[in-house]
Amino acid sequence: MFFDLRACAPNLDYWYCVALGTELTAGRPLAASVWGQSVVLFRDPQGQVQALEDRCPHRQVRLSAGQVIDGQLECAYHGWRFDSRGQCVQIPYLEKGQKIPPCQIRNYPVREQDGFIWLYPGDLAVLAQTGREPLALPEWEHLNYIGSCAPFSCPGHFSFLIENLMDMHHGHLHDQHQAWAGARLEKIAGADEEVTAYYQAQSYYKIDKIWSISQLFFPALRRLHPDPLTVSYAYPHWRATLGADFKIYCLFCPVSPTETKAYLVHFTSLEAFPKLHQSPLPIRRFLKTKLSGTARPLLKNLIRQDVAMIAQEQEAFLTDPQRRSYEVNPAIAQTQKLIRRLAPERRVAQS
Ligand code: FES
Ligand SMILES: [Fe+2]
Repeated sequence: MFFDLRACAPNLDYWYCVALGTELTAGRPLAASVWGQSVVLFRDPQGQVQALEDRCPHRQVRLSAGQVIDGQLECAYHGWRFDSRGQCVQIPYLEKGQKIPPCQIRNYPVREQDGFIWLYPGDLAVLAQTGREPLALPEWEHLNYIGSCAPFSCPGHFSFLIENLMDMHHGHLHDQHQAWAGARLEKIAGADEEVTAYYQAQSYYKIDKIWSISQLFFPALRRLHPDPLTVSYAYPHWRATLGADFKIYCLFCPVSPTETKAYLVHFTSLEAFPKLHQSPLPIRRFLKTKLSGTARPLLKNLIRQDVAMIAQEQEAFLTDPQRRSYEVNPAIAQTQKLIRRLAPERRVAQS
């Protein structure tokens, strides 16, 4: 049945991507939301990210509307202040003899890693027991990879987005922005928390000369050639490789049953240029910084096309949730199975 899949909650005992590190500046709190949980992020005086429930215990307003002072979060309304543990530490108009009420708010494990801010919204006992880590993006800092990132929000349940990413037959949609064509599914491998689909495809890009990167801008320079295309649902995120030239990630943040935020991150590999690797480090760093973001326009076009389809899928589902969809790609059945298996309960969050 497709009915319960589109209402499945994500398993919150994993790390979710809530922001780019650069989105969170000193002194200014930032609001985020994971499956109905509102969170406020801020930096302490050491620059470390902290995360608290985005709800002042006084009058329940959003703390993210406040400001950060001396590493404490100050509510915009009456100026109550909270430390990084969520403890109220100051009420500016407290009378002599009055005590601060015991009104601690929830604090969340949060991590800044590989350019992104990761939040763990789940059960702390499960975290201690599993030792789960945020998804690693080793290419983010690596000098042999040029990164581009496109954040986006799509008006659909996260299952629609992951199905889009696991089904490589939708190259049809992407037309002149296509990175691959003629995908043929060869094999599917599954593990407890992962599904990997191996496709053989025709890639439009080949990064064998340093100027090949210009293929990202000029479609006329692209030549089709066979390349393996491997996509994985590394629950609750996605990663892919296209030949040796590209690595792509989609970092998920399911906001509600009908909204999913995500970060599409694309890396172009410079591994094929050993001479370049012998260049002085400042030159390699300069090149990485200068070229980063080059694939962003391409990503934005792909996202625009994908999101338009996902919005229609969600709309059609809400209009008639019982209507059956037909599927021929076995990678999608495996993906749906994983979502259902890891869902805490088939429950809908408050949207
Ligand atoms: S509502 Fe936050 S201090 Fe009053
Ligand atoms: Fe797509």
